[in-house]
Amino acid sequence: MAEFAVIRGDITESKVDAIVNAANTTLLGGGGVDGAIHRAAGPELFAACVPLNGCLTGEAKITPGFKLPSKWVIHTPGPVWHGGQQGEPELLANCYRNSLRLAMDHGCKTVDFPSLSTGVYGYPLADAAAVATQTIATVLAKSNDLQRVRLVAFDDATAAAYRVAWAQVVD
Ligand code: APR
Repeated sequence: MAEFAVIRGDITESKVDAIVNAANTTLLGGGGVDGAIHRAAGPELFAACVPLNGCLTGEAKITPGFKLPSKWVIHTPGPVWHGGQQGEPELLANCYRNSLRLAMDHGCKTVDFPSLSTGVYGYPLADAAAVATQTIATVLAKSNDLQRVRLVAFDDATAAAYRVAWAQVVD
């Protein structure tokens, strides 16, 4: 099974085959990690996103990384948290599943994720970490195409939450 790791860092610095962007459904950029990725990739990223005509929540679309050290950027809009009774867990799982499937379709071996939906979109951190790690573990157990998947945490609390969640998945 491919390796999973949680690291602290800035995903725009990840030197991997693909980084995942916590996008919105317009795919036309925003704040948070979306803003950071667009700033680091340069204006060509925006130009590459325009013809994609947006992306549904839970779906994923891919563009080159342009000025980023990562070859590809996989854009996936996570669910906005509305209390957990509007399909948020399944939509968040779809983000991870569809992003990994798209990465494998493009021959990626190394993929870095940010903590999808736990910023502006308000998804409770522990719940999101549980969904993310369970989904990643399920995909990794079934496929040999990937070498390493990482969760790049921008702060210590996020790193701790994903480490705890992963430990519960693999135990
Ligand atoms: N590297 C890694 N993680 C980062 C970075 C970075 N450079 N910058 C922010 N983060 C983290 C945040 O700290 C948070 O843990 O990414 C996680 C996701 O937060 P958001 O970027 O707010 O994403 P999300 O909650 O999915 O909301 C998406 O925000 O920026 C807009 O256009 C975006 O509308 C969309 C919404």
